[in-house]
Amino acid sequence: MVPQSGSKNHIPVMADEVVSYLATELSGAYLDLTSGLGGHLLALSKRLKPEARLYGVDRDLEAITEAKRRLAKVEQFETIYHSSYTEIGSIVDEFKDKKFNGILLDLGFSTFQLEDESRGFSFQQDGPLDMRFDKAGGGLTARDIINGWEEEQLGNIFFKYGEERQAKKIASAIVRERQKQMIERTSQLKEIVKSSVYNKFLNKSLARIFQALRIAVNSELEKLESVLPLLPDYLLSGGRLAVISFHSLEDRIVKNFLKEEEKSCICPPRLPQCVCNKIPRFKILTRKALVPGATELEINRRAKSAKLRVAERI
Ligand SMILES: C[S@@+](CC[C@H](N)C(=O)[O-])C[C@H]1O[C@@H](n2cnc3c(N)ncnc32)[C@H](O)[C@@H]1O
Repeated sequence: MVPQSGSKNHIPVMADEVVSYLATELSGAYLDLTSGLGGHLLALSKRLKPEARLYGVDRDLEAITEAKRRLAKVEQFETIYHSSYTEIGSIVDEFKDKKFNGILLDLGFSTFQLEDESRGFSFQQDGPLDMRFDKAGGGLTARDIINGWEEEQLGNIFFKYGEERQAKKIASAIVRERQKQMIERTSQLKEIVKSSVYNKFLNKSLARIFQALRIAVNSELEKLESVLPLLPDYLLSGGRLAVISFHSLEDRIVKNFLKEEEKSCICPPRLPQCVCNKIPRFKILTRKALVPGATELEINRRAKSAKLRVAERI
């Protein structure tokens, strides 16, 4: 089911900043690798000339259908491809443009996905423990992880991906409960977390546990780590990469990647002269990550943890 409210409420995060950093060539080609409902593509279209080209990629077929509907009358809109951004090589083979003036990664999930209870992303609604971005593609669900993974593995993902202090306690409560019955629904998981943490920390713990599961189900950090080094090959010289992340784990990966890419030498300091011949591929344009302004936060609470980093292809 398509949650209409999600699509109506959809506000792309830091859209003004993304457009002003990315849209350097008004007749150019732009690729949103996480196009969601097409909010950033729409914002870009308003700045670009009619002959510019806009492309999208998303793992979520329902989001693609909705984005295509929203972009149908946009002159510069080319297509949205259903795939993971890690497949950028074969995706771009299908496009007219092979290199881009701007590439965007707007990580994580959308309000559209969060508000659809049948996707299981939200602890505020009862739904099946699913959490896959790509429902059509099969693969691991949150239900598989909750009912199948060892207690230690559960504790590890809650701690590592959710930074939840009660990770072990919650993992052990899950294992006790699943010996009695299968844990199939978000409401069951919510009850288990409730029994393991103080009430005043409940919402924060629930948010962390649900975040950790979503990251694990979709291999989000591994995918981010594997796509970043591929991107310089798909940017024109002077083209820009913009990445919006929503938690410190993602942001750290992006920050470290860009720092390494900017270096012109990675030789050990004890060597008298450079032998690595490293060629920097990016120049960082945002020394400190940009964050949303107060006006944006007033209208879009979801933007509150967003961080935007931008770099230019050398
Ligand atoms: C924050 S939303 C993007 C919103 C979009 N920029 C807009 O303005 O409408 C993140 C999107 O990334 C998609 N996504 C997550 N991981 C992905 C991956 N590995 N490959 C492609 N899309 C992915 C999700 O399905 C979701 O639609």
